[in-house]
This record gives sequence, structure tokens and C-alpha cells, in this order.
Amino acid sequence: MDWKLVAGYLERFFPLQLPGVPGCEAAGAVTAVGPGVTGFHVGDEVIWNGIAGGYRSVSNFPAGQLTPKPAGIDFEQATCMAIAGGTAYSALVQLQVGVGDTVLVHGAAGGVGSAAVQIARDLGARVIGTASGQNHEYLRGLGAEPVAYGEGLAERVRSLGSITAVVDTFGGDEATAATVQLLGGHGTAVTTVPGKESAAAGIAPVRLLDGRVGDAAQLAADGKLRFSIYERLPLTGAARALGISRAGHVRGKVVLIP
Ligand SMILES: NC(=O)c1ccc[n+]([C@@H]2O[C@H](COP(=O)([O-])OP(=O)(O)OC[C@H]3O[C@@H](n4cnc5c(N)ncnc54)[C@H](OP(=O)(O)O)[C@@H]3O)[C@@H](O)[C@H]2O)c1
Repeated sequence: MDWKLVAGYLERFFPLQLPGVPGCEAAGAVTAVGPGVTGFHVGDEVIWNGIAGGYRSVSNFPAGQLTPKPAGIDFEQATCMAIAGGTAYSALVQLQVGVGDTVLVHGAAGGVGSAAVQIARDLGARVIGTASGQNHEYLRGLGAEPVAYGEGLAERVRSLGSITAVVDTFGGDEATAATVQLLGGHGTAVTTVPGKESAAAGIAPVRLLDGRVGDAAQLAADGKLRFSIYERLPLTGAARALGISRAGHVRGKVVLIP
């Protein structure tokens, strides 16, 4: 989301306030509490989820955007729960995935995708995930059966079995067409990348649940959800981090360390 915001692609939804600071997820400790704020104290470890302003070593966030960080996870993992973990969690609740389901995850090696794989596995589903060949072993390690995206995608997935639910974290023509072919009017699909293709196919956008950040963080604290950290960079490497993300092949998440 950060590079899309900086590049102006989200202007319609989240108009840029300039000068601006990117960053939609962060984690840290409370250093001061504003007047009238209840429920948070100096020293509390928290996760922040917002639109922009996270690329700072000290930030002033509305208390309503904070979620207590469970003790069992570190700040790197905690920050990944704000958008990626919470979105994947919301998608699987929306799909009502459970034992007996076979879930196809488009973009399974990315931030949202890798979380969706792990949460679907924890719910008892079989998971098939799309990724490039370099991420197939990684997907197997998460408990998914990997399939290469690209021409012939639907046939390759079909050869592994019937799909009952789809989480699309990539979008576009190919993933949408495969979703429609594989579900064949049965089963359900959600997308984190709504667009004209998904709208025409009747694929629902993900509905973000209240409490999703805390629920995802609890899964992580229980050892059921863990993000691969593709690269750690200092805050001064923010521009490089945005470039890496924009290139589209991050495995898990890129983390900035203030
Ligand atoms: N609506 C919402 O509330 C919401 C919330 C969160 C995210 N999003 C959106 O959801 C999308 C996913 O976010 P993210 O943070 O998970 O992205 P990400 O981590 O940057 O995704 C990168 C992944 O995409 C995979 N990929 C690249 N080309 C692909 C293709 N043709 N088919 C399938 N997978 C491909 C890559 O796998 P390989 O390296 O193996 O190619 C890589 O692992 C973004 O567009 C984001 O803006 C929306």
C-alpha cells in the first residue's frame, strides 16, 4: 500500500497530504499519552494501523488506531499484523473457510498471501498457492501446494483437485479468470485487489473486520502465523524499501527499523 500511496494510485481513496510521511503499519512502545486517552499507558507495546505516517521513529497516533501487542511476538512480527495479517484474517473469516475446504491463494508468497496460507491451514483447509518457482519450497514449508502462475494456471490447479474458496491477493485478468473457471459458479472468492476484472466477475472485495489486528496478532503469539522478513532496512532506506515492494516479488514483508 505504501508505494501505491506514494505513487499517487490511491489518490481517489486516500488523498495525499503534503508534505507527507508514508507508512501504514508500525509497532512500538508508547512514550506519552494525550489528555483524555484511556486504556493506554507509557511503556505499553502497541501495533498501529493507519494510512500514512508510520515511517518515523516517534509518531503521534490517535489511540483508536492502536492495538495492544501480545507479549509473545517481537516488534517486527507485530508490525506485519496491522495490514497484511489483519487483511488475510478478514478474508478467511469472510470466506468461512474450514475443514473440507480447498483454498486457492493467488500471490501466496506475498505479505497477505503468506498469511492467508497459514491461517487457512490453521482452520483445517487444504491450500494451493500461486507463486514463481523460486517460492515453491517456501510455500511447501507453510503447508501449501505450490503452483506456478502464468498461462495454463487454471489447468494446473485443476489437476490438483477441486477448489471451494479463493483468496486473490494479486488481481488482474489472469488470476480473476482462473478464479471464475475453477469455482465454476460454486464456492466463494474474495479479493484484496478489487478492480474492473473482479467487479465484472462478481468477486467480493475483502471486508476488513473490527478487531482483525488483535486477532491476527494473537494467532502469531500462539505460533500459528509468522511472516518471513524478506529484507530489514534502516529508516533511511525507506525509498529503497518502496522500490523493492513495487518490484512485486517480496517474500513476506520488508521491515524498516528506526
Ligand atoms: N483491500 C485491502 O484492504 C488490502 C489490504 C492489504 C493489501 N492489499 C493489496 O493486496 C495486494 C497484495 O498485497 P501484499 O502486501 O501481499 O503484496 P506483496 O507482498 O507485495 O506481493 C508480492 C507477491 O506477489 C507475487 N506475485 C508477483 N506476480 C504474481 C503473479 N502474476 N501472480 C501471482 N502472484 C504474483 C510475488 O510472488 P513471486 O515473487 O513468486 O512472483 C510476491 O510474493 C496489493 O495489491 C495490496 O495493495 C489490499
